[in-house]
Amino acid sequence: MKRHILSGTLLLAVSMVPAIAGPSEGKEVFDKSCKACHGAEGQGNPGMAKMMKVEMRALGSKEVQAQSDADLKKIITQGKGKMKAQSSLSAKQVDDVVAFIRTLK
Ligand code: HEC
Repeated sequence: MKRHILSGTLLLAVSMVPAIAGPSEGKEVFDKSCKACHGAEGQGNPGMAKMMKVEMRALGSKEVQAQSDADLKKIITQGKGKMKAQSSLSAKQVDDVVAFIRTLK
């Protein structure tokens, strides 16, 4: 009986893993697709901001963190202001990168 419960718990733990958006996978996406403009910690690359003539808010700032996941996903997939849509990302990569942005606050 004890053994049965144990293996059930293990199965549950394993099957839950893919359902969680992954900040660590998100970091990979971020490093590849966002870091050049947003900086390693999402603080914004001042050179890029100057070149694009725009103020970039830190992704960890209150203003950015106050937006919902849906808002952030929309910015990433449809673009906002001077930022173009990041259309090469899969839906999962977008979820993962939003999970990563949440670790920056
Ligand atoms: C070519 C440079 C560039 C790349 C690449 C880029 N961004 Fe941006 N991003 C910007 C700029 C510039 C802004 C500010 C846009 C504005 O306010 O006009 C911005 C704004 C944002 C915002 C909104 C912040 C706010 O102030 O509300 C989010 C969220 C964001 N980017 C996430 C991402 C993510 C995630 C990626 C990677 C998948 C990414 N960006 C890739 C340049 C970039």
